[in-house]
Amino acid sequence: VYHTPELTPNGQVPDCAIAVDVLRATSTMATVLAAGGEAVQVFSDLDQLMEVSEQWPAQKRLRAGERGGAKVAGFELGNSPLDCTPELVEGRRLFISTTNGTRALQRVQDSPAVLAAAFINRAAVVQYLLEKQPETVWIVGSGWEGSFSLEDTACAGAIAHSLVEKSQLSQDDLAGNDEVISAIALYSQWQDNLLGLFHQASHGKRLLRLECHEDLKYCASTDILDILPIQREPGVLKSQ
Ligand code: MLT
Repeated sequence: VYHTPELTPNGQVPDCAIAVDVLRATSTMATVLAAGGEAVQVFSDLDQLMEVSEQWPAQKRLRAGERGGAKVAGFELGNSPLDCTPELVEGRRLFISTTNGTRALQRVQDSPAVLAAAFINRAAVVQYLLEKQPETVWIVGSGWEGSFSLEDTACAGAIAHSLVEKSQLSQDDLAGNDEVISAIALYSQWQDNLLGLFHQASHGKRLLRLECHEDLKYCASTDILDILPIQREPGVLKSQ
């Protein structure tokens, strides 16, 4: 099932929840773990992030804060995946709070399995689903402050498209699942030009105004990182 965080049914949890924030929180999380980061710990609240990270050894932590697409003053990092080089992140824990992506993860943190997905690690997510075969799966697109987002929906479509292909399901197996059928249609239309899609998207345009062209290019690459950020304790993701 594909949801926005606000539309996830209250009082229910799926067997597996996949949070998606292509631009850029889940792309950044996958990049940090691929670059050797020890873990990513997510917070919706900046003060709480500060309080918890204070208890972590200074040389083993990095703090990332983003609001409105921009870096929060006083934080070492904003939310650009390209800043997360192995030299910087190796062996360190990233404490991160972003406008929407970290909230989406917190919304589903009670699920028995919680993953972070973006285009860059789509194949690793699909591989996990094929191996574990969870019965109920929610893909939760972070969107922007509660609204629909093109890029997260297209990524949900990319995951579903690959899963359908690899598990040899037919179109009829999806019948009745309106959100997933439309996510696949969106992805199918743009799969060869995801950067073009990002240029049309409201958050893509916001990031372009902030000169984040290179981030958009990077986040549009598909299946480049074989990494699966998976929740180990509430709010803490490590690579599988
Ligand atoms: C978010 O969580 O809202 C985003 O990742 C924003 C961003 O592009 O930094």
